Amino acid sequence: MIDIKLDYMPIANHEWIGMEPLLKVVHNSLHKGDCLGSDFLGWLDYPENYSKEEFGRVKAEAKRLRGMCDALIVVGIGGSYLGTRAVYEAMMPYYHESLSKAERGGPALYFIGNDLSTGHIIALMERLENVETALVIVSKSGKTLEPATAFRLLRKWLEEKYGDDAKDRIVAVTDGEKGVLKNLADKKGYRTFVVPDDIGGRYSVFTPVGMLPLAVAGIDVDGLMAGAAYMRNKLMDENVSNNICYRYAVTRMILLRKGKLIELLVNYEPKLIYITEWWKQLFGESEGKDQKGIFPAGATFTTDLHSMGQWIQDGSRNIFETVLRIRHEKEDIMVPEDEIDGDGLDFIDGKPLSLINDYALLGTSEAHGTGGVPQILVELDRMDEKNLGGLLYFFMKACAISGLLNGVNPFDQPGVEAYKTNLYRLLQSDEGGK
Ligand code: PA5
Repeated sequence: MIDIKLDYMPIANHEWIGMEPLLKVVHNSLHKGDCLGSDFLGWLDYPENYSKEEFGRVKAEAKRLRGMCDALIVVGIGGSYLGTRAVYEAMMPYYHESLSKAERGGPALYFIGNDLSTGHIIALMERLENVETALVIVSKSGKTLEPATAFRLLRKWLEEKYGDDAKDRIVAVTDGEKGVLKNLADKKGYRTFVVPDDIGGRYSVFTPVGMLPLAVAGIDVDGLMAGAAYMRNKLMDENVSNNICYRYAVTRMILLRKGKLIELLVNYEPKLIYITEWWKQLFGESEGKDQKGIFPAGATFTTDLHSMGQWIQDGSRNIFETVLRIRHEKEDIMVPEDEIDGDGLDFIDGKPLSLINDYALLGTSEAHGTGGVPQILVELDRMDEKNLGGLLYFFMKACAISGLLNGVNPFDQPGVEAYKTNLYRLLQSDEGGK
């Protein structure tokens, strides 16, 4: 399903061997549950021990919502929306916004509450004015300003649109017992699903956080979960040579110690852009603390070769690439012959476009390798739910192991509070603004 290869690596064999004792300690502490942040390890075995009864409820609720709406608004930010969006954009056909519900295979998802843009939310209300709509609010704390603000506006909008029936079109995914959103949902009579206490937002895509909206959209959530479960079992070996996830994590740590401060996640398929966004949050929030950590960045090739290619090839040598490659495309198209060879590119005549993309990957990899950019190649068999489920789990475990190898707690995010404190202070005193 997933394989990884290392290329142009400035790493000697003894450096791997040198990391093994620490890796064993980290592996054991993660699996025994006594590592840093051990209150948040629910994601580790979730693909095996999740509640089948609750998963059944999620699917039943998704069926109900699929029947009643053509558009599902997903309100959430950070870990409460990026995993859902990553899978949704990867699995939807191009230009899916203009397709009908039947062509798309389910209601369209609209993501909001992930910024404070006035234009964004007004445009959404206008776009959905005459569309059958339902809404899922995803917020573990219920107090995050961006989704809470959007939810207030959209709740009012839905109540104006549907009157008392609005309550049947709103579902909250939030904290189980405590929390403001749970209280509000109970008062208003919204249906609710639980974000488990021991799973943080960026590790929550396999819980109702991701599974409910994705099931509404018609994504095969059983396939996602099966892929995650398969990957969980595959990544149990404590030896770096038998565990692709540990090979990735250890390689990153060795490169970091050699001054490679930036990791660029590269895809050759624009549908993966939100996988990159999810990955950036996962690694950025998990590792960037105590004044250390790799800076996670992303690029889509070949597009960004024409903007960032120069820097990558020849800028500061503090970067490495992790390249995502899809082995088998769903479809292909041949480049037609140009009899007069007007563009001077007759060597592309009759070639499948997927092959040209693959050669671009090979050629770029060689160029960047020669330019001093180490590369990790993550290969995915195909872009389907099972492979995506496996990929997301692979990165989640690699992220936890990397953070622990670097001595940080990969499950908290104390630094995110700093901007919130200032924002709340300004809002409460009204000292800022226009
Ligand atoms: O990964 C995380 O923990 C964060 O990105 C949260 O998901 C994000 O801040 C949203 O929090 P909440 O779900 O409480 O609204």
